[in-house]
Amino acid sequence: MNSNAKQRRVIISPSVLSANFAHLEQDIKQVEPLVEWLHLDVMDGCFVPNISFGIPVVKAIRKITNLFLDVHLMIEAPERYIPAFAEAGANLIYAHVEATPHINRAVQLIKSHGCKAGVALNPGTPIEQVYEILPYVDVVLVMSVNPGFGGQKFIPSSLRKIKRLNELINREGLEVKIAVDGGVNADNVADLVKAGANILIAGSAIFQDKIPIEKAVKLIYTNIQKGKD
Ligand code: DX5
Ligand code: ZN
Repeated sequence: MNSNAKQRRVIISPSVLSANFAHLEQDIKQVEPLVEWLHLDVMDGCFVPNISFGIPVVKAIRKITNLFLDVHLMIEAPERYIPAFAEAGANLIYAHVEATPHINRAVQLIKSHGCKAGVALNPGTPIEQVYEILPYVDVVLVMSVNPGFGGQKFIPSSLRKIKRLNELINREGLEVKIAVDGGVNADNVADLVKAGANILIAGSAIFQDKIPIEKAVKLIYTNIQKGKD
C-alpha cells in the first residue's frame, strides 16, 4: 500500500532521455547493476513539442538489458502504437489521459498485450481525471514538469498532487503505484517518498557530467531513505 512511507518499496527508473545517445549502451550498463527499471520517453512532436525516439530504439534497448522497461508514450492517440511498443519489449506502458478520449480502451489494449498499464497526467490535469480508470491500472504517473524535455525544474505543487492521489488510492483500497517524472533529484526525493511516490523517474539527475552515474544514483538512494525515517 502507499500509505506507510517506511514500508514502501521505492524504485528508481533512470530516464535515458538524458543519456548520451552516442554511447547509450555504455550509459545503460552503468545504471544496470544499481536499479531495476529503465524509463524510455517516446515523443511524437505533436502531443509534446519535441521528438525523441520510437519503436526501433526500444527494441534495441530490449536486446541489451533485462531491466524492467517502463515506456512513457507522449504521443497523440497512443492506442495506435501500443501493440508495436509491447512487441518491441516494453514491460509497462503509460498512456497520457490527455492524449486520447478512450483511456479505458488504451489501458485494456496495454494489458491485452501482456504489459503492466500506466496512465500519465500532465501538471495541469487534476487527479480526478484518473478516478474511473484507477481500478484498472498498475501505475499513475504524475508529471512534475510539462512533458517534452529533460532538465526542467520540478513544479512544487506536484507534491500536494501526489499526496492527494495517495489518499485517493488508499481510500479506494487499491494497490496502484505512483510514479513521478520531471525534475526529480537528490534534493526532493525524500519529500516525494513522504508524499506517496513509489517510482522515481530521473533523467538529468543521473545522466549528468558533474557527478559520475553511480555516485548520482547512490545519493538518490541515500536521500530516499531519509524520506522513510
Ligand atoms: C519529460 C520526460 C522525462 C524526462 C525527465 O517529458 O517524460 O522522463 O526524461 O527528465 P529530468 O529528470 O531531467 O527532468
Ligand atoms: Zn518520462
